[in-house]
Amino acid sequence: MSDPSSSKIHPSSIVDEGAVIGQGTAIWHFSHICSGAVIGKDCSIGQNVLVADNVILGSGVKIQNNVSIYGGIIVEDDVFFGPSCVLTNVTNPRSQVSRKTLYEKTLIRRGATIGANATIVCGITLGRYCFIGAGAVVTKNVPDYGLVVGNPGKLFGFMSRHGHKLKFNDSNHAICPESNYRYQRAEEEVRCLDLDEDKPLPDELSVGSESYDDFKSTK
Ligand SMILES: CC(C)(COP(=O)(O)OP(=O)(O)OC[C@H]1O[C@@H](n2cnc3c(N)ncnc32)[C@H](O)[C@@H]1OP(=O)(O)O)[C@@H](O)C(=O)NCCC(=O)NCCS
Repeated sequence: MSDPSSSKIHPSSIVDEGAVIGQGTAIWHFSHICSGAVIGKDCSIGQNVLVADNVILGSGVKIQNNVSIYGGIIVEDDVFFGPSCVLTNVTNPRSQVSRKTLYEKTLIRRGATIGANATIVCGITLGRYCFIGAGAVVTKNVPDYGLVVGNPGKLFGFMSRHGHKLKFNDSNHAICPESNYRYQRAEEEVRCLDLDEDKPLPDELSVGSESYDDFKSTK
């Protein structure tokens, strides 16, 4: 394990020998980090979370309670896992057939949000800053900023980096009501015109000021 003094690990959690935990990462109650896991810095790992062998979590990842991250899942920086969301790593599991060397890759890209109780079927990519609604069952790749809801999950629109639905005008431009960042759409490809997807948010835009519904009703 990496230097435990640089991270905050509740005594009820088990971090196996060999796991790497980044500086400033907090691991709350009753969680298990397996020996081959690598967790970046400034992450928050909630209660009853499993991070399996060979999982790599980026930095700034937030995992709410009751989530298992299995081998084969790659998580980039700043991903949000809602409570009790479900990830998978074998499409056709059978108790009588071992497929431990056949885990399917799921890539969860920077800044993605997975809503509470959503299920992500393995072998897909969730794009940067995509937003998976609560309870969705996602079976296909999701584009950057894509908003997916329902079962089966369908692309319902696009969410800004601050988590607001983007309303595109006839010129395919939209403005996030919270950050005022401009977005441009070309079919299913959305880009932010004002901040590179790989850059962090500036400090002044990193703390929410109004609720989602307030923005919806006024902007
Ligand atoms: C996806 C989400 C952001 C949409 O919120 P919203 O903009 O307020 O949505 P609305 O209430 O305007 O709903 C618009 C339509 O989508 C439907 N809808 C909204 N969220 C849905 C969801 N998660 N699954 C299926 N349908 C959904 C609504 O029923 C409504 O349908 P209708 O037009 O037929 O009546 C929100 O519902 C959501 O799932 N947030 C994630 C919350 C979460 O998991 N947080 C975890 C941290 S605690």
